[in-house]
This record gives sequence, C-alpha cells and structure tokens, in this order.
Amino acid sequence: MSYNPLESAHQSHQVYQDHDPSFSQSTGFLAPQPASKPKTSKWIRVGIPVAVAVIVAAAVVAGVVASRKSKSSSANSPAAAAAASASSASAKLAAGIFATATNSEYMIPIYPSTTNTAAYTAPTFNSAASGWPADPFAPSNPSVLSVRPDRPRLIAPAYKWAALPSLIASDPYLALWNASIFNNASQYDALPVVPYFDDGDSGILDVARQVKQRVKAFSYVYRMTNNTHWVDRTWEELQNAAGNGTTPWGPDVDRWNSAHFLDTAELSAAYGIAYDWLYDIWTPTQKSSIMSSLITLGLEPGVQALTNSSIFTGWWAKNIEGNWNCVCNNGLTMASLAILGDDTSGIASQLLGLTVENAKANCAFAVSSDGTWSETADYWYFGTTGHAEMASSLVTATGSDYGLFSVNPNLWQVGLFHMYGQGATSLFNWGDNGPNKYTATANSLILYASQFNQPQFALFQRDQHDSADPWNMFWYNPQVSGAFWDGLPLDRAFDNSTDQWMSMRSSWTDGNALFVGIKAGTLQGHQTHNDLDVGDFVLDALGTRWAGELGDGDYLSPDYFSNDTQGSARWMYYRKMTEGQNTILIGATNQNVAAKPTINHGTSNTTQGSSTVFTPPSDSTAFFTTDMTSAYFSATSVKRGIRLLNGRKQVLLQDEITATASVMWRMHTNATVSISGTSATLTLDGKTMDVSIVNAPDGATFTKSDATRLSTDVTPPAADQPNPGVTVLLISLPAGTYNLQVLFNPQWNDGTKFVTPPSVALDSWTLRSHDT
Ligand SMILES: *[C@@H]1O[C@H](CO)[C@@H](O)[C@H](O)[C@H]1NC(C)=O
Ligand SMILES: *[C@@H]1O[C@H](CO)[C@@H](O)[C@H](O)[C@H]1NC(C)=O
Ligand SMILES: *[C@@H]1O[C@H](CO)[C@@H](O)[C@H](O)[C@H]1NC(C)=O
Ligand SMILES: *[C@@H]1O[C@H](CO)[C@@H](O)[C@H](O)[C@H]1NC(C)=O
Ligand SMILES: *[C@@H]1O[C@H](CO)[C@@H](O)[C@H](O)[C@H]1NC(C)=O
Ligand SMILES: *[C@@H]1O[C@H](CO)[C@@H](O)[C@H](O)[C@H]1NC(C)=O
Ligand SMILES: *[C@@H]1O[C@H](CO)[C@@H](O)[C@H](O)[C@H]1NC(C)=O
Ligand SMILES: *[C@@H]1O[C@H](CO)[C@@H](O)[C@H](O)[C@H]1NC(C)=O
Ligand SMILES: *[C@@H]1O[C@H](CO)[C@@H](O)[C@H](O)[C@H]1NC(C)=O
Repeated sequence: MSYNPLESAHQSHQVYQDHDPSFSQSTGFLAPQPASKPKTSKWIRVGIPVAVAVIVAAAVVAGVVASRKSKSSSANSPAAAAAASASSASAKLAAGIFATATNSEYMIPIYPSTTNTAAYTAPTFNSAASGWPADPFAPSNPSVLSVRPDRPRLIAPAYKWAALPSLIASDPYLALWNASIFNNASQYDALPVVPYFDDGDSGILDVARQVKQRVKAFSYVYRMTNNTHWVDRTWEELQNAAGNGTTPWGPDVDRWNSAHFLDTAELSAAYGIAYDWLYDIWTPTQKSSIMSSLITLGLEPGVQALTNSSIFTGWWAKNIEGNWNCVCNNGLTMASLAILGDDTSGIASQLLGLTVENAKANCAFAVSSDGTWSETADYWYFGTTGHAEMASSLVTATGSDYGLFSVNPNLWQVGLFHMYGQGATSLFNWGDNGPNKYTATANSLILYASQFNQPQFALFQRDQHDSADPWNMFWYNPQVSGAFWDGLPLDRAFDNSTDQWMSMRSSWTDGNALFVGIKAGTLQGHQTHNDLDVGDFVLDALGTRWAGELGDGDYLSPDYFSNDTQGSARWMYYRKMTEGQNTILIGATNQNVAAKPTINHGTSNTTQGSSTVFTPPSDSTAFFTTDMTSAYFSATSVKRGIRLLNGRKQVLLQDEITATASVMWRMHTNATVSISGTSATLTLDGKTMDVSIVNAPDGATFTKSDATRLSTDVTPPAADQPNPGVTVLLISLPAGTYNLQVLFNPQWNDGTKFVTPPSVALDSWTLRSHDT
C-alpha cells in the first residue's frame, strides 16, 4: 500500500469541522511511509527504442550533411529558412532523445557526457517552419459561450489529430510519448475499474485523478486506432464512477464528495474529456447518461460552491494562495465546455460565466512576483496543471484564454521557479509535498514554453519521467530545438518577501553536480503548507542528497492544518517545527511565525555552455545571506549565509548569532555520520562528504542525534511520524555570541584541492570576498 495523504482544505479545516458533523480525525488511515529511496522505475521507454532507433538511423545521414549549420544561421530568405529548418530538424533527429534514461535513483534524466554542437544549441523555436498547421478556428471576437464547430474542443482539436501521425514519424519525443501512452493504456486496461476509496475524512482525490488518468489514455488510444475496445473501457470507468457499475461506488448522496471539491473537480474534468474526445462514437443514450451524471454530481455542486456564500465548500473561490482555485475552476470549465450546446439546463453557460473570471482573479495570482508558487515547490504541480489545462481548453474550445495567461504579468516565471527548484537529485521540497500526483505533472512547462516563448521550458521538461502525457502530444511544438542548459545561468535568486530563496549549482546536466537550495521568506501565507523553516537548506553532491527535508507529516494528524498562528498544533509536529528543519534553533523554541527576514545575494552569473561536460571557472560563485533575527524570540541577532567556493566544489555555511538562550545548529541527513570533534564524515550511497567547523568557537563541536523531538517539547496531539535512517548533525551551545562556519567538502576524488576560506563577516560578503 502506498501513502495517500489527503489534500486538505487547510485554513478552512476548522470551518469544515464546524459545518460537517461527519468530519472526524480518522484513526484507520495509513501513516506516511518512512522516508525511503524513490523506487527505481523501468521508465516508460518500454518498447520505444526500436521506433526511435529507426527514426534516428534514417536521420543520421541527413544530420551529418547538415549538422555544421550554425544555430545563428539567418533565415531571411525562403531558401535559407528551408535550409536552416532542414538543418535543425536533422540535427535534432540525429540526436534523438537527449536523455539516455530517467531510471536513475532519483528519476532525473541522465544526459550523456558529450559535446554535440549541432544539437546542443541555444534554445529556440525554429520560426522558419511552424510546428503545427494553423487552427482553422480563429474567431475575431471570441466568447466563452461560443465554441468551435468541430470536436474535440478540449486541448486537442481535430486538425491536430490529423497532423499528429506525420509529426510522430519525424519527432523522437512525440514517438516516445505516443508509444508510452499506448503502453500505459494497456497497463490500466488490465486493471479492474478504479475502486472507490474514501479515507473517511475528505479524500477520493487519488481515485478521481486515477479515473482522469485512465480516461486520458484510453480516449487517446481510441482516437489513434479507432479500436472501440477503448471506448467500451472508458465507458466502464465512467459508469463505475457514477455509481452505475457492478460494485458500490460512493454514497448515494454527493457521490463525488463536493465537501472536498478537488475530488469533484477532477472527476468533472475526467467526464468532460471523455465526453468530448469520444464525442463522435458515443451513442445518444451514452451521451445523455454522461451528461446527467456530470451535472448532478459535479456541476450543480460547482454552482453552489461558486455562488452560495452560506456554504463552506466554496472557500476556494476566494483563495489566491494555492492550487485549489486552479484545480476546481479548471474541472468545472473543462466539463462545461465539453457539454456546452448539448446541455439544455443552462448550467454549463452559467458556470462558464463564473469560472473564467474567478480563476483570473485568484488562480493566476498564486504565482508570486518572482515566479514562486506561493504554496510550496511540490504543490506547484497541482496548481499549474489546473491552470494550464483550463487556459488550453479555453483557447482550443473558444479561441481565447481571456487573460488567464497574462493577467498576472509574472506568471510565466513559474516555469523558472520549477527548473531552479529542481536540484541535482530532487526538488528543494520545503513544506508539504501533497498527495499522489497521477495527472498532476510538470507538463504545464511544455504549454508555457510556447505560450511565453520560453523554449528552454519545453527542452527541460521533455526529458523528464512524467512527460509521456496525452496533453504533450498537442502542447509540444516539435519545432523546438537546442539544449535547455545552453546559456542558462547556474543560479537564480527569488526575492519576493513571501518566498526569498535561492538556487545554486555547478551544472545543469551532471547528476553528480553540487546543488544548494536555501530559503528565508515569511512563515504565513502559504496555505498552511509550510514549515517553520527560515534559513532551511538542502545540499546535493556526488549524486545524492546530503542535507534534506523530512517532508509531510500525516495530513490526518489532529489540527495539522488548523492554522498558521504561533499557537497552532501544526507547529508541534516534528516535521513542521523549527527543530525538524536544517536551520538554527534557539531556546529549543519554534521560530516566530511573524518573522520578516531580509536577504542579500549574489552570483557570478555563470552560464553553462552547449556541452554537457562543464567545469565552472575557478572564480565562479554564488551566495545568499539572510538576517533572520525576527524569526527568533531569544536572540538579538541571527544571520545566516551560504556560498559556493573553489569553482563550486565546496560549500560554506556561516551563522552569526547573539542569543540569550541555547543555540543549536541542526542538519538532517540520510548519511551515516561519524564524528571527531569539529569534523564529521558523512557516508551515503558509497560516497563521502567531509564536514568541518572552521575557526570553531570555544565549545563548538559536532554531535548527532536521531530525528526525534527534544524531551522538553510539548506533546503534540498525535504521535510524530518516525524518520528512520535520518540523523541530525548538531552543534549545541549555551546562550552567547557565536560565529559558526561549517565547511562542506564533497569527496569528488578527481584531484580537487580543497581551500580553507577566509573568515569574513556576513555583512561583508561579496562575490569576491572569499577569493584565496
Ligand atoms: C503510437 O504507438 C503505438 C504503440 O507503440 C504504435 O502502434 C503506433 O503506430 C504509434 N502511432 C504512430 C502514429 O506512430
Ligand atoms: C479512424 O477513423 C477516422 C474517421 O473515419 C479516420 O479519419 C482515421 O484515419 C482512422 N484512423 C485510423 C488509425 O484508422
Ligand atoms: C447512472 O445511473 C443514473 C440513474 O439511473 C443515471 O441517471 C445516469 O445517467 C447514469 N450515468 C452513467 C454515466 O451511466
Ligand atoms: C445555499 O446553501 C444552503 C446550505 O446548503 C442551502 O440551504 C441553500 O438552499 C443554498 N442556496 C441556494 C440559492 O442554492
Ligand atoms: C510578492 O508577490 C505577490 C503576488 O504576486 C505580490 O502581490 C507582492 O506585491 C509581491 N511582493 C513583493 C515585495 O514584490
Ligand atoms: C505511465 O505509466 C507509468 C508507470 O505505470 C506512470 O508512472 C506514468 O505516470 C504514466 N503516465 C501517464 C501520463 O499516465
Ligand atoms: C532521505 O532520502 C529520501 C529519499 O530520497 C528523501 O526524500 C529525504 O528527503 C531524505 N532525507 C534527508 C533528511 O535527506
Ligand atoms: C489555531 O489552531 C489551534 C489548534 O491547532 C487552535 O487552538 C487555535 O485557537 C487556532 N487559532 C486561531 C486564531 O484560529
Ligand atoms: C549578474 O547579473 C545581474 C542581473 O543582470 C547583475 O545585476 C549583476 O551585476 C551581474 N553580476 C555579475 C558579477 O556580473
């Protein structure tokens, strides 16, 4: 069994309990599994290499001829344009799929160590040729109630299906994805219909997303084969989720669980996709059955949620902090667009008159001014999937996004947020990580790439393990070429006061690269999904994560989502309290939720070149400092800084503290830790990291402990999740004034000569302050 944490109503949980007498803290729910290594997956390449190999072999000849064409070829004559197009197309085919696998320990793409000047060029959309034919539906005055004449309407119009086979034949990524989707559909086909599972509180969200996942795959394969088996199989899932199958599915009243509206919305989306993509093959009876269940179980509760202020299930209609508004409005929108015109009740028109404006005012603003998804890095997946599906459906069905892409002028940066949040092994996954993803992918990046003319978004995402998605068959512009890393800065600071975080690395393509993510930011205003974690950091090197996050507590723990005030029980759980973060703990007390840290940062602006083989220059560096005094109750000054040293081979973490209570430096690691005074040796995955306290103040030595609460902590309402295998590396000191400098030396075993950095006060840190 796997952990199915509930998506939760967060701050409205209190309200939820007040209004729903059936709300209870489940006891029968599975606790989260202990942190463990991600499963190695065989990936989704099954059966693909043959098809791709054929394409690649055919292309190599042309590629050799044309590959010397430079990326800067000007295409100002039709002949030049055609030549440039042929060149880039053949270089692309010759290179095939850039990543050699995504079945690494952390499921990140593995790039070959090579230089390919023909293919690894600056990201671009080849403007000499359009990827897709022009959409014949181009209304001059789009209206949300005026849909295209043909089907499908949602995301994948008929003209794109018609073009798809030849695009698949000439694009290795489309070929890979097509075959993977077929493979996925066969796997789902062999399973029983998605069984009903309600955890007792608020969740059939996993169930809903699985139905949607299957509907997408089955209807895709039907349209690519005309084999009606897939229509029958889709019908089976739809009937089952309507309670018309052979086994019971949900209660008779509110079967789609509108009390937790995400569930209702995702099932509505699934119904909308099925209705629309298989429109031509459904019998009139099937159509009216699908529509009647959709209206009763999804759309009627949707109207209530958006219009009836006396019910709490619509709290999300006024919420700009996160994914709920995007997911809920999207499901209602896709479903309404699908049945518009056939629906005689008027509910589809009514909803479309509400959802678009609502999402523009709310969903679009869950993205901070710097591109950060304000909830957490992992909740980005849910929110952007909802936003992308909704905007894309509106564009294909009616000819406009009505401003969903543009109303927040910084929304496009949410793609950078995700790319920079991804470390060398995994996400800088602060705060809560959310339920199982299923249909929530990072593929909004593929849509945003074209929409915002950011080709690197698509080039980054197309090699990721979750890219084989029916949406990508229509969102991907096959005229994209180049390498996402070519010219991409290694570092980026995100400095909206609510977020304040920075990403620094030594390479974009080397799985062994050094990566540091660190954050400050406010502790409120994140949909109660954050931790008390000003100063928290993660560190990757040598293909593993040395300093990491503990992730979610049990979402069903009492008061886990009660609120984000100082007294909230949420902050009594180890994984959410300051103690459970990689930061400074003072007086064994949580950070102040009203903290308003300030930051400073710098980067040498080093960019990776075309090659995947890249060594940053020796003076290449980045740093981030924060004054986090306001996060502490018993300190007059607490400052933290982190920087890359020695051409990004080493990391210095420095803390300057004046505290009137005990001081603890804490870092959580999966490594085996052996300690000798001011030195610690960490071993993990057969690799070694030396950590030392340089210029150690009196009494500062390393100790270690299990990742469990201190005996002085208040008892939380429910037990903490265990953190097996996790060790806390510690420096414990009495009240006082300290300058703690901790140096991380990953044992690269490549002849690297380590440097001992000078001691420089944080306020005097500059890009060059640590040159030796
Ligand atoms: C899509 O993949 C399936 C399964 O591998 C294959 O049979 C089919 O030919 C592919 N479609 C195209 C257009 O290549
Ligand atoms: C499926 O049927 C449609 C409509 O008759 C036709 O245009 C299309 O070529 C068929 N596709 C396949 C793979 O047979
Ligand atoms: C399920 O059964 C109900 C009651 O007979 C009917 O109204 C509805 O249309 C059916 N829905 C589906 C998808 O079969
Ligand atoms: C609003 O919700 C309340 C509580 O469920 C319900 O009694 C009332 O009929 C609803 N109002 C409308 C106009 O639907
Ligand atoms: C942070 O982002 C939010 C949401 O876009 C915006 O309202 C706010 O003004 C931004 N704050 C700063 C300091 O830029
Ligand atoms: C395809 O199947 C694999 C393995 O079953 C799964 O991890 C992946 O998410 C599926 N992809 C889609 C788009 O459903
Ligand atoms: C331990 O490893 C797991 C799996 O990779 C990861 O999710 C977790 O964040 C790691 N924990 C720490 C403390 O590094
Ligand atoms: C916050 O939640 C706690 C329980 O975790 C509760 O005791 C407290 O009253 C709540 N505060 C507010 C302002 O709602
Ligand atoms: C890096 O780029 C930023 C933004 O363009 C600029 O302000 C800064 O001066 C640059 N730093 C260096 C060292 O070039």
